[in-house]
Amino acid sequence: MRLMRALVTGGPASSWTVAEVPAPAVAPDEVLVEVAAAGLNRADLLMREGSYVPSGADWNVPLERVGFEMAGRVRSAGARVTGFPPGRYVMAQTGGACAELVAVDHRLLLNVPASLAPASAAGLPSALLTEYDALTGAAEFRPGDRVLVTGGAGGVGHIGVRLARALGASTVVATSRSQAKTGFLREAGATHVVDTSATGIASALGPDAFDVCLDHLGGAVLADLLGAAAPGARIVQIGRLAGDRARLDLELLAARRLRLIGTTFRGRTAGELHALVAHLRQDLPHLLGTHGVTPAVDSLFDLAEAERAAERLTRPGLMGKVVLRIA
Ligand SMILES: NC(=O)c1ccc[n+]([C@@H]2O[C@H](COP(=O)([O-])OP(=O)(O)OC[C@H]3O[C@@H](n4cnc5c(N)ncnc54)[C@H](OP(=O)(O)O)[C@@H]3O)[C@@H](O)[C@H]2O)c1
Repeated sequence: MRLMRALVTGGPASSWTVAEVPAPAVAPDEVLVEVAAAGLNRADLLMREGSYVPSGADWNVPLERVGFEMAGRVRSAGARVTGFPPGRYVMAQTGGACAELVAVDHRLLLNVPASLAPASAAGLPSALLTEYDALTGAAEFRPGDRVLVTGGAGGVGHIGVRLARALGASTVVATSRSQAKTGFLREAGATHVVDTSATGIASALGPDAFDVCLDHLGGAVLADLLGAAAPGARIVQIGRLAGDRARLDLELLAARRLRLIGTTFRGRTAGELHALVAHLRQDLPHLLGTHGVTPAVDSLFDLAEAERAAERLTRPGLMGKVVLRIA
């Protein structure tokens, strides 16, 4: 049996260790990818705490494996795959991505331009799929809409800011609890930044300030931001870093005819994921090339430094993505 190095959860306090595990076999619809780098996500931390169990069709490895996204080069392809020759540079949201090799259904792969470094490409798939799906699907975004992104400096949020600008938002307001992140958010494309350590969102913006919100925080932040929504605004609830319970003003929700839409990749079928990737593939060259919807890499670690990388994910100064170098 062929072995490879992979990051796995185990040992004291569910720490991460690099282990020798069986290399994946390639099914007829799959492509074997030599992973160059893998992005880390909040969900990786939640998985090792035991509070998140992935169940989407993009997780096809044992649950002790770590990682949701990667970039690398095609080594070989299954019998039913065309269009992914050996050496092709690709990225994907796929389970167990922090490993030397992953087997990925070809309908989940996205092509990467040579100009994008592996560290940047590896940190893109999850954030881009999340925000693209939230904006173009759940929120029915239209060019000219005004967009609010909470937690805008995060690994997912800053891609939401860039994507909203690229798709033609007229304004993009981003929130952060740190004034020090204003420059980073402006560079990402925010037209206005709300420092939530100093003010609430509704009091800073007033009513009728946004048509679409990508909310990565939930809790009291969600309750507050309703006061800044325009009539008919669509609020996509993506993450709950500020709390998974909220006391909402339902009179306001009704009076402004707001739509609150939850989303997750958990439980998504293969068909749903393939359709989302197919949709994104049409826009991808334009988004990456013309608009530079690529991630800021906050920090890059070797696979053996995964624990330090995990710690970095929880640090207040985080701006963009934490990435592991695999090859
Ligand atoms: N639904 C889905 O399909 C999906 C997919 C991917 C991710 N997610 C979720 O989306 C959320 C954001 O992910 P991410 O990778 O962007 O996280 P991240 O990189 O950790 O960044 C989130 C940002 O939120 C702010 N924040 C953190 N804790 C906060 C708190 N208690 N109160 C207020 N603000 C807080 C921080 O910004 P400041 O320090 O600048 O305030 C942080 O930079 C996570 O909950 C993640 O699990 C959901």
